[in-house]
Amino acid sequence: MATNRTFTMIKPDAVANGHAGAILDRIIKAGYKVVALKYTKLSAETAGQFYAVHSERPFYNDLVSFMSQGPIYAAILEKDNAIEDFRKFIGATDPAKADAGTIRADFAKSIDANAIHGSDSDENAAIEGNFFFSNFERF
Ligand code: TYD
Repeated sequence: MATNRTFTMIKPDAVANGHAGAILDRIIKAGYKVVALKYTKLSAETAGQFYAVHSERPFYNDLVSFMSQGPIYAAILEKDNAIEDFRKFIGATDPAKADAGTIRADFAKSIDANAIHGSDSDENAAIEGNFFFSNFERF
């Protein structure tokens, strides 16, 4: 299995609810190496750019507003089979449908405020990591 990288954000709801430390701890204990980490806040403009792929979806405006409402942690993670394993680790988009023991099942309250992001492909992981981190901020 190839070692690869995924990109994650601990979203504003989870940070505001004080869950960021517990989520990061679970990520590290699950075997992900944190190769870049940043505490930051998206503006409506940058959140809109990050989620531009969803710009035609009915939930886009609410998503942009939610993602820019408070600080987040952004990180690049490395592990064997990182993309697929991390998607399973965080659970389904809708926490009501997420498997027990996943991050979203344990920390998310709704489909829009769902605690965490995980890239869905190698290509998007690279695009999303580059969105947040310069070459000097990861190794
Ligand atoms: P999506 O990429 O489909 O999900 P995931 O984060 O699991 O890859 O959607 C991106 C985000 O958009 C999702 O995390 C939360 C939000 N969203 C909604 O608010 N309502 C929805 O119906 C969907 C599908 C997503």
